[in-house]
Amino acid sequence: MERRRLGDSELEVSALALGTWAMGATVETWGCVDDGESIASIQEALDCGINLIDTAPIYGLGHSEEIVGKAIQGRRDEVLLATKCGLLFPKSENELPPRCLAPESILRECEASLRRLRTEYIDLYQCHWPDPDVPVRETMGALTALLEQGKIRALGVSNFGIEEIASAREFGPICASQPAFSILQPRAAQDLIPYCIEHDMGVLPYSPLAKGLLTGKFDEDSKLEGVRTRDPEFIGARYRRNLSLVASLKEIAQRYDKTVAQLAINWTANHPGVTAPIVGAKRPSQVIENAGGVGWTLTDEDRARIDELVRDT
Ligand SMILES: NC(=O)c1ccc[n+]([C@@H]2O[C@H](COP(=O)([O-])OP(=O)(O)OC[C@H]3O[C@@H](n4cnc5c(N)ncnc54)[C@H](OP(=O)(O)O)[C@@H]3O)[C@@H](O)[C@H]2O)c1
Repeated sequence: MERRRLGDSELEVSALALGTWAMGATVETWGCVDDGESIASIQEALDCGINLIDTAPIYGLGHSEEIVGKAIQGRRDEVLLATKCGLLFPKSENELPPRCLAPESILRECEASLRRLRTEYIDLYQCHWPDPDVPVRETMGALTALLEQGKIRALGVSNFGIEEIASAREFGPICASQPAFSILQPRAAQDLIPYCIEHDMGVLPYSPLAKGLLTGKFDEDSKLEGVRTRDPEFIGARYRRNLSLVASLKEIAQRYDKTVAQLAINWTANHPGVTAPIVGAKRPSQVIENAGGVGWTLTDEDRARIDELVRDT
């Protein structure tokens, strides 16, 4: 699989990355997920040439990182591990994860991630969400100390706006941004991605399949569960509009002899400025299909047609 440099870092990442949120998750979040299947999926990704694995402590409250740590045993040198800090474990089921980018909390979180991932270093350490209550100078102080100690190799941010990225970059190197970006959620193309191009930063879009909606496997009668029941893209008129859009995307995909999932991944992966979309999977067969989303190119006419469909549907 093609490799691309991540911003101005030394990391050469595959054109597709594997996301492991669902792999660590509870039944209430992502339905049934089997640890054996998750480990097989991670190993399948490595076999397909995917080298970037994205996880976070909050995914299954440490479980996703543990699964990744197990799956890469004996293959650490084939993998670039990306994890995150800044979302703490909630004290009860109904509480949202508190945000915290305080220095001592980051240092604690990093040690716990290293332990769960069974590694001595993290390749890309990302702030999961901004924390308005902590001065960014203090956050960056902790992160640059981790860089100097060799516990992390590069720094990234996720869900940061461009002003927040610019402030953080005053205090240290940030080589990548992780925004939501897909056919259904193209907003990052307006300002975030152009900013990253201008500042030689990598872009690692998440949810390129819109949580599976852009695979074509849903219809009006599908029984939705977990995170999907709370996502506006899966609700009411918006959901019906998305199903109709997916039907049109299927026709375009067929002309390339590709699936809708592969088309959606390709649209994101080949958008100027994108380094590698992070695609989630729960089974090796999904990983294999998704790997076929890169290594080919949609024509400019079809890209324009897709953008038009999103506007008009
Ligand atoms: N930084 C952040 O705030 C943030 C937020 C969200 C995600 N992320 C990262 O981005 C990754 C990907 O995002 P995501 O998991 O939200 O969404 P996604 O990649 O758009 O969708 C992944 C889900 O779609 C289904 N799927 C995947 N490939 C498929 C295929 N070929 N055919 C049919 N179904 C398929 C699987 O779920 P089912 O089998 O249940 O259908 C899978 O878990 C996450 O794992 C995480 O690493 C980061």
